[in-house]
Amino acid sequence: IEDAAQAHGALLEGKMAGAIGDIACFSFFPSKNMAVGGEGGMVTTTRPELAERLKRLVDHGRDDTLESVELGTNLRMSEVNAAVGRVQLKHIDSWISKRRENSDELNHSTKIRENSQHAWHQLCILSDEPTSVISYFDSKGIDARVHYPIPCNRHQVYSEHFQHEISLPNCDLIAHKLVAVPVHPSLSGEELQRIKDALHHSTF
Ligand SMILES: Cc1ncc(COP(=O)(O)O)c(C=O)c1O
Repeated sequence: IEDAAQAHGALLEGKMAGAIGDIACFSFFPSKNMAVGGEGGMVTTTRPELAERLKRLVDHGRDDTLESVELGTNLRMSEVNAAVGRVQLKHIDSWISKRRENSDELNHSTKIRENSQHAWHQLCILSDEPTSVISYFDSKGIDARVHYPIPCNRHQVYSEHFQHEISLPNCDLIAHKLVAVPVHPSLSGEELQRIKDALHHSTF
């Protein structure tokens, strides 16, 4: 199962995010690369036999006769949200291109695997002193944040899960040290320049 929540438009060695695993989950939360005017998301699958089941699970487990044949719930998207999403889909390619341009502008050195493209939902700075980095950007009027300080498996809700204590060394090492700076497509030229200047003059 792919967590493609932030990956709309990303390409990994020729495969689009959402088409890499058996099932992928996208988020349309308002901050994501595309949204639906509220909460929302999308599940995709590369396995046709799972598609029918997924459609059923989001609709009370009902089959075509409207009988619930397995346990499901109501995860149907409203028409209004879907209508907003359909319009956003028309813009998503240009928005992601803009994210790529903004990221290139701020960070020329990113190495990406062959035949792959980042979707730049976030551009993160790895720092041993994330709090100082955030304060520095704050002093320049730039919103920088650590979004996901706790690795998924370490959350309290998984305290009984067999993977709660497993070692994911890279994740444990960097999760709380990744400070995201804005790269979104609505940044004005002046705002992008301010972030670029702040990065240029920083000592981290
Ligand atoms: C990597 C990742 N996975 C999952 C989620 C959850 O998405 P949602 O809030 O739409 O359920 C998010 C949202 O921030 C995310 O960034």
